[in-house]
Amino acid sequence: MSLIVYIVLAIVIVALIIGLYQKSTNAICMSKKRLDGKTAIVTGGTAGMGLETAMDFAERGARVIIACPFQREGEDALKLITDKTGNKDVVFKLLDLSSLTSTRKFAIDIIDTEKRLDILINNAGVGTVDKTLTDDGMSFIMQVNYFGPFLLTLLLLPLLNKTGTISEPARIVNLSSISHNFGYINFNRINDTKYLFRLQFYSNSKLCLILFAHELSKKLQGNVVVNCVDPGYVGTRIFDSAGTIFGPILIIFGLLFFKTAWYGAQTSIYAALDSEAGKVSGQMFKNCQLSRAKRSAYNDETSQKLWNKSISLVGLRSEELEKCFQ
Ligand SMILES: NC(=O)c1ccc[n+]([C@@H]2O[C@H](COP(=O)([O-])OP(=O)(O)OC[C@H]3O[C@@H](n4cnc5c(N)ncnc54)[C@H](OP(=O)(O)O)[C@@H]3O)[C@@H](O)[C@H]2O)c1
Ligand SMILES: *[C@@H]1O[C@H](CO)[C@@H](O)[C@H](O)[C@H]1NC(C)=O
Ligand SMILES: *[C@@H]1O[C@H](CO)[C@@H](O)[C@H](O)[C@H]1NC(C)=O
Ligand SMILES: *[C@@H]1O[C@H](CO)[C@@H](O)[C@H](O)[C@H]1NC(C)=O
Ligand SMILES: *[C@@H]1O[C@H](CO)[C@@H](O)[C@H](O)[C@H]1NC(C)=O
Repeated sequence: MSLIVYIVLAIVIVALIIGLYQKSTNAICMSKKRLDGKTAIVTGGTAGMGLETAMDFAERGARVIIACPFQREGEDALKLITDKTGNKDVVFKLLDLSSLTSTRKFAIDIIDTEKRLDILINNAGVGTVDKTLTDDGMSFIMQVNYFGPFLLTLLLLPLLNKTGTISEPARIVNLSSISHNFGYINFNRINDTKYLFRLQFYSNSKLCLILFAHELSKKLQGNVVVNCVDPGYVGTRIFDSAGTIFGPILIIFGLLFFKTAWYGAQTSIYAALDSEAGKVSGQMFKNCQLSRAKRSAYNDETSQKLWNKSISLVGLRSEELEKCFQ
């Protein structure tokens, strides 16, 4: 009996030490940059890291557009941000990334009504939720985390390109994850809606984001840069969906290693603001530093093939695509 007590005690002590170490390495974005006169979109800027990111941009004086599928939650977040920062130029718009129609509607609205777009944070994402199928017939996790942001980014590209300059490029930041390491791309299964583990969809979607950063960065001129961020392990309600197998494992790891949403947002903010970060494209940041995804995330053939496949799956017609790149 006493042996078990000792073992448990040892585990707790090790966990505390690792947790403290992890926290001591948490980097903070030190940029003092103001964003007055600039416009930023944070998808899912209504909870977790997205909310913290939107709050930070609002504090720096930006016009901030937050977007999620629920009116009530959006309005609550909006009130929170304006109350706390005093910035009245914050808006909420409905956006459901699990619907191609909603994603298009949102993008057209932005293109029609906004004069500029300096920053796009593709933050919205779901964890390993139960829902398997979207109305468009795709995997729910893949569409919210990858196909939706793919379509949104391309449709917003003309406005980003118009706003950015070589000396001050517009910036696209995608929220990837350490779990991209478990992701793999099987082109025969890219539109699959069944996997043994839902975590596989999540990991695949995060790998796709990096491959896309890689491919898109090759197609952009210097006035728009696109980079990915691995925020680390952040304690948000995204893990609520983890289910009976992974849930408890993740919760234990969460207790050991988790960051708060405010810390989790720092690397996104860094990628969006820091002057050094604006000089690179197609890269990955972690703890406010340049980092590296796994090797296969930079494979030109895979990224090109995924690009082609994604275009047809989200139904972008070639004349539309041309408009995105004019
Ligand atoms: N937490 C981590 O440890 C971790 C690690 C690596 C990467 N990430 C990534 O970081 C990003 C932010 O995660 P978080 O931890 O801050 O999660 P979160 O607290 O669950 O926030 C997710 C946000 O996305 C929005 N969203 C969900 N489904 C959407 C949809 N269909 N259309 C539009 N918006 C939608 C949510 O809006 P509603 O509240 O209205 O649903 C919410 O604002 C995600 O991309 C996640 O994959 C997180
Ligand atoms: C993707 O798969 C779904 C479900 O199998 C199907 O309904 C949909 O048409 C597919 N989409 C494309 C573009 O193949
Ligand atoms: C961000 O994701 C969008 C959608 O997947 C994609 O078009 C773009 O290339 C990606 N950029 C990065 C940095 O991953
Ligand atoms: C992708 O599509 C382009 C244009 O249609 C084509 O030239 C290219 O060979 C395709 N790439 C791959 C890897 O399929
Ligand atoms: C961006 O705009 C420039 C003109 O300022 C144009 O030459 C270039 O083709 C555009 N690039 C994209 C990716 O749309």
